[in-house]
Amino acid sequence: MPSNSPYSNDIPGRTRLCEDVIRSAGLLVLKGFRENAGRSFSMKGPQDFLTETDAASELLIRGMIADHFPEDGFLGEEGGGHVTDRVWVVDPIDGTANFARGIPHFCISIAYVENGNIEIGAIFNPAEDEFYIARRGFGATLNGKPIKVSATKTFDAASVELGWSGRVPNETYLRTISDLLSLGTNVRRAGSGAMALAYVADGRSDAYIELHMNSWDCAAGLLLVEEAGGVVCPFMELGSLAAGGPVLASTPTIASGVSRASLIPLATSDPNGNLLRA
Ligand code: IPD
Ligand code: CA
Repeated sequence: MPSNSPYSNDIPGRTRLCEDVIRSAGLLVLKGFRENAGRSFSMKGPQDFLTETDAASELLIRGMIADHFPEDGFLGEEGGGHVTDRVWVVDPIDGTANFARGIPHFCISIAYVENGNIEIGAIFNPAEDEFYIARRGFGATLNGKPIKVSATKTFDAASVELGWSGRVPNETYLRTISDLLSLGTNVRRAGSGAMALAYVADGRSDAYIELHMNSWDCAAGLLLVEEAGGVVCPFMELGSLAAGGPVLASTPTIASGVSRASLIPLATSDPNGNLLRA
């Protein structure tokens, strides 16, 4: 790293950089949103939106990280990259479909992963000025205040968000919705997997499931949920940073049921899906 960098070469230094980077990207993304830049979009595939702001945000994030930690790896949704022992995993805009159509439910998501462990996770929705950050072992905050997962105990009071993508057959998605509805829970989908995980962390939702997610959509949010007292699936065992995998994050009280309905195991469950820690 450059000798004049204000960031120390450790996790606390990278946490400070992460906040500075995500706030800078937030200004750029919000400007794009307000100026309607998002409304001229192209399609990467069916239901897969791309705007000029996605690329600009990722370039800014990539550049700021490389300025201070040039040896760290980088994996971004738009520009790709490689998984290394120390790697930043970045979604420059999550919820691009919302962004492109004028809906203020989108965010930037940045995780820092060292030797396969997510050490830092940050999510920022600049349209709502909501900044989430977690450092492993140090809890999770929203705009500087500690957050906790919900205390919802029964499915008839629960709201579970279920993400959709074309990477999983519709039949599997529809079966999962049906199994969740049979439990009695409300099922939502708001179009940003990263924001959905942040909402589990702060108790606005009780669980989030997506049958396959890319790592840039979920790495930061998974740490937020864990640090806010929730339980998650063993993402790195079920999938990988490079290939993605299934995602489940939940408040502990309903996690076993959500795991059984989605067929996604919890990091802390026995082979029958029973929660071992709650
Ligand atoms: C998508 C959103 C969506 C989720 C998809 C993601 P994007 O990311 O998070 O909610 O269901 O799996 O690909 O395209 O908005 O960055
Ligand atoms: Ca994304």
